[in-house]
Amino acid sequence: MGVGCLKAISVKETSKLKGTIEIQGSKNTVLPIMASSLLASGSMVITNCPDIEDVHVMCQLLKCLHVKTYYKNHTLEIDTRQATYAMLPAELTGKLRSSVLLLGPMLAKWQRAQIGMPGGCAIGLRPIDIHLEGFMRMNVDVKLHHDILCCETYYLQGTDYTLHFPSVGATQNLIMAAVGAKGRTVLRGVAREPEVVELCKHLKHMGVIIEGVGTDVLTIKGSSSVSCHDYQNVYDRIVAGTYILMATCISSRIYLKQIDDIESLKTILQVANQLGANIVRMEQMLCIESDGVVGNGNFETGGFPAFPTDLQPVLMTVLTKSEKDSSLMEHVFEKRLGIAQDLNQLGASIRVNGREAKIEGGNSLTGHTVRATDLRQGAALVVAGLMSKGYTTITDISHIERGYEDIVGDLRKVGADISYV
Ligand code: UD1
Repeated sequence: MGVGCLKAISVKETSKLKGTIEIQGSKNTVLPIMASSLLASGSMVITNCPDIEDVHVMCQLLKCLHVKTYYKNHTLEIDTRQATYAMLPAELTGKLRSSVLLLGPMLAKWQRAQIGMPGGCAIGLRPIDIHLEGFMRMNVDVKLHHDILCCETYYLQGTDYTLHFPSVGATQNLIMAAVGAKGRTVLRGVAREPEVVELCKHLKHMGVIIEGVGTDVLTIKGSSSVSCHDYQNVYDRIVAGTYILMATCISSRIYLKQIDDIESLKTILQVANQLGANIVRMEQMLCIESDGVVGNGNFETGGFPAFPTDLQPVLMTVLTKSEKDSSLMEHVFEKRLGIAQDLNQLGASIRVNGREAKIEGGNSLTGHTVRATDLRQGAALVVAGLMSKGYTTITDISHIERGYEDIVGDLRKVGADISYV
């Protein structure tokens, strides 16, 4: 892409959006699928793999384990035949929250894993206690030694474990560990996000026996013989949701391509509809039309199928455009309401109390310089820039590039005045 070294985006107030955007492949789906490649020895091809920083960091992590990866034109080839155990250094694991997803497959393959602490967005404590508690229930000894997480077991033992919160990552990690366990593992209270379902479907293609896919109880038969399988990645529902919500607050007629299935977008579409957008489903495509007049409401985030926490910053941004008051309750990440401060700097009036934000209607935004501090907050600031009078400069855009392949290119395609500076 050649833009990774540029650190800021300038956005001008935009009164009309018109055109077509192709939605990239899903980041949150492909990262666990990449990690799961370790479970088998062989080669696989992932198509529609997004060209984003997080994917490239995951490739580097796999390379540490002597897995060969080759990325070109949204196709990723992974060859695990020479995979050998190694410690994963903190310099790499700290760049990516999903580095923690290598723990499960490493334990299944080598009965041990030593990794530096995982990184990721600055949105709350993001502990990994559920992952670790689940591993311990599977007979794993877990220690923290000079900030290196050391997990070891003589053998993984299938278990019956109830997650105290339906963590997406912990669900995925424990499923992958269970593939290498003796006997059956029952996981209760698991996350039902589409990204968990996709991982299960892929593992089934690899030969794993899993029951309960899409429900909150999963049963995994361990020690099955597994083989590599190619994977066609799904579209990124969060990127699609960003553009759907963006189109509700600016007079728009935009088409989003590569949307073959709207199941994972249902709640997002309902919210966009409530805010005034008209959405028409076409073959592999959605058309979003709006006059840019935003309704209001009381919204809350939650585990799937509730409204996704990843789109909460964008929704809050859009709600500032309403003439009436709204509220937003964040149930997943305790510190994710931080975007309120940035929006207030641009002229919004938002009060945050604990997990709830009250957004006062009838305030308009004016461009300013603001800083991206995490992926989704950064994308929301881009949407805020489109709505703000004059110019808005967003700095530290490397955060946005972790998940959005080309947000500038995408928005230019629909007529936004946006550029790298
Ligand atoms: C994944 C997504 C992220 C999304 C999130 C929730 C990826 C790469 N990232 O992140 O975009 O925002 O799901 O939909 O797929 N928690 C614990 N203990 C744990 C694990 C999590 O308390 O062991 C808490 C977290 O602090 C957070 C909540 O559970 O408050 C949800 O976290 P989790 O579902 O694990 O998110 P991730 O899998 O990291």
